[in-house]
Amino acid sequence: MTSSTQEVPAVGGVPRHVAIIMDGNGRWAKRRFLPRVAGHHKGVEAVRNTVRACAERGVSALTLFAFSSENWRRPQEEVSLLMQLFVSALQQEVDRLHHSGIRFRVIGDLTRFDRQLVDLIDSAQKLTAANTGLTLTVAANYGGRWDILQAVDKLRRQEGASNAPWTEAQLLPHLSLGELPEPDLFIRTGGEQRISNFLLWQLAYTELYFTETLWPDFDAQALDLAIASYRKRERRFGRTSEQVSGVAETPGRTASA
Ligand code: IPE
Ligand code: IPE
Ligand code: MG
Repeated sequence: MTSSTQEVPAVGGVPRHVAIIMDGNGRWAKRRFLPRVAGHHKGVEAVRNTVRACAERGVSALTLFAFSSENWRRPQEEVSLLMQLFVSALQQEVDRLHHSGIRFRVIGDLTRFDRQLVDLIDSAQKLTAANTGLTLTVAANYGGRWDILQAVDKLRRQEGASNAPWTEAQLLPHLSLGELPEPDLFIRTGGEQRISNFLLWQLAYTELYFTETLWPDFDAQALDLAIASYRKRERRFGRTSEQVSGVAETPGRTASA
């Protein structure tokens, strides 16, 4: 369990944890005069390719935003097609993920999903729990504010009416991705430059990358562009550039952690 705000990851390396808002499926379909759902179908292929590409590049965690707590506001027909697609993707992909050593997780409020979907999620998580390859997390009916609230609620139940102020370290294990390092690289496809209630707590010091590429067109090459951009960034976490790059401190001053 590490917090990027406390532990500075190695500079210039491959990101350990990549988090992606997979946006632009609808526009991809519209440009081809296809129904929106065709974009979501093509998006599943992009997920498959991106999971493989991340594993090949040594990324250890990939978190994908598949359905937000706000996406229920879409037309009923699109919502139910997305749920069906989630079911069929799980039915078709889980064995393959397992054979590739991937640990599969779902985060979000699952109480609104129907029994079949919840059962598929449960069995996929159980099947892959001991795998040691890439941790693939899908955020479904997820919202960053929901995540913080549910973590605070669990901590409150655990700690009872103590007067001592809570610490970040106490909250961390209750947050959805509590056991993973915080995302190093955030990618949003589709051109919008917003967080849309994705990982609000966990993105505190994540490097942000926005691309016009629509999600169904996202592939290994597009991932490499994002990683190349990430590797050029200087992550300072509040420190100065000189401190981070290891340039000698002004004589007479001692560097603090
Ligand atoms: C992202 O693509 C997929 C989901 C939100 C489920 P969109 O469906 O938002 O595509 P655009 O933004 O309308 O192009
Ligand atoms: C964000 O995409 C959620 C997912 C990709 C699942 P949206 O397309 O729903 O985001 P907004 O509402 O336009 O910001
Ligand atoms: Mg969108």
